[in-house]
Amino acid sequence: MSLSIFFQLALLCCLLSLSSAKTGRPSHPKGLIFRVSKDPSTLQYTTQIKQRTPLVPVKLTIDLGGQFLWTDCEKGYTTSTYRPARCNSSPCSLAKSGNCMTECYSPARPGCTNNTCTLFPDNVIAPIATTGTLGSDVISVQSALDGTHVTISKFLFVCGSTSLLDKLSTGVTGMAGLGRTNVSMPSQFFNTFNLKRKFGVCLSPSNGAIFFGDFDSSTAPLTYTPLLINPISTASIVTEGEVSADYFIGVKSIRINQKPIPINTKLLSINATQGSGGTKLSTVHPYTVLETSIFKALVNAFVKELNVPKVRSVAPFGACFSSKSIGSVYTGPAVPTIDLVLQSKDVYWRIYGWNSMVEVSKDVMCLGFVDGGNPTTSIVIGGHQVEENLLKIDVESSRLGFSSLVYSKQICANYNFVAKS
Ligand SMILES: *[C@@H]1O[C@H](CO)[C@@H](O)[C@H](O)[C@H]1NC(C)=O
Ligand SMILES: *[C@@H]1O[C@H](CO)[C@@H](O)[C@H](O)[C@H]1NC(C)=O
Ligand SMILES: *[C@@H]1O[C@H](CO)[C@@H](O)[C@H](O)[C@H]1NC(C)=O
Repeated sequence: MSLSIFFQLALLCCLLSLSSAKTGRPSHPKGLIFRVSKDPSTLQYTTQIKQRTPLVPVKLTIDLGGQFLWTDCEKGYTTSTYRPARCNSSPCSLAKSGNCMTECYSPARPGCTNNTCTLFPDNVIAPIATTGTLGSDVISVQSALDGTHVTISKFLFVCGSTSLLDKLSTGVTGMAGLGRTNVSMPSQFFNTFNLKRKFGVCLSPSNGAIFFGDFDSSTAPLTYTPLLINPISTASIVTEGEVSADYFIGVKSIRINQKPIPINTKLLSINATQGSGGTKLSTVHPYTVLETSIFKALVNAFVKELNVPKVRSVAPFGACFSSKSIGSVYTGPAVPTIDLVLQSKDVYWRIYGWNSMVEVSKDVMCLGFVDGGNPTTSIVIGGHQVEENLLKIDVESSRLGFSSLVYSKQICANYNFVAKS
């Protein structure tokens, strides 16, 4: 080996080790973690990543069924590393974008570039959806192993406008889509770091976490149910031929104190031509939303089983009670259990008082389910019902693991996700 080649190699090694030291990048993180906070005024679950060059913190509302990461690029987006996705390029086909913005008539900036493919960033809370362009930029997220940050240099996301931020929590500038697409945040994490295609969700009224990769769940044994695919998009703007990015499960019946309530079972299955019906999980609905006839059946049966006088109801709930007339047990208020019965009568998600009741004031608590009228999806399991439940969204095996209420108090506030290799 000539001396000069030797020096060049030595220099290259040195540069490589310097660059990895600078970003603190473990060569293969075994998992990534989002620390999650709940905003007490909007009841949204938020997290913070870093994005752009130079990196700046970006606060996002978590949308479990969201298709991708989108941020406001209209206001204050400065970076030297943004790359628009050219129409018909591979990122566009990965994202299944069928649309092209050939020319942007305003001054060029991220979100306004010629010949860029477009998607529909969706704020389901407002609700508002618009056209936005696909592009990539640097992001930095926390590695689960040691808390250092790892960077991804070309993370795909969609540029939205400032108006899309309507009704999102203070300081939030976008939404973290964790849904079932090839460009969602989990998919990009799995692909970049070769992680097992699974993620864990543990939310609480204060802090919680979302863990990307496989993890040890032996501390809270999980029950499994298949994740179902809704062949029709449930996004605000439906693209023909697009599968829903939401995570659906097969609720077959609902029991109160183990007694089935009368439900039109047609509402519980996914109508494959309309994409309507069925049961999905959501982090953007603070309480479970039920189709109106299911809501009425649930409230009637619950009130009958609980058998204590109702007090004036408090919006958005249907049945409220004086706290004095309800005792307390280790699973929360002593109220009838609500079972979401799954693939067989022995497999059910049991909802205890801690997850069914909402304390609306010192003296009043309400059944924490809301009437959704005639919605597309019959049952949308919301935040209050999944808090302090450990969920494993196993995309690889297309199944959901759930713990039901994790008994030891406040476990999700400090749940220690341990990566499984
Ligand atoms: C797009 O292309 C047109 C025509 O070539 C050019 O005038 C315009 O400045 C470009 N716009 C952007 C945002 O790059
Ligand atoms: C996109 O995801 C589907 C599964 O949803 C998978 O079968 C397909 O191979 C993926 N496509 C690419 C290009 O990664
Ligand atoms: C799906 O919905 C359509 C329109 O409401 C209805 O005509 C059709 O019978 C439904 N399909 C099934 C399998 O229920």
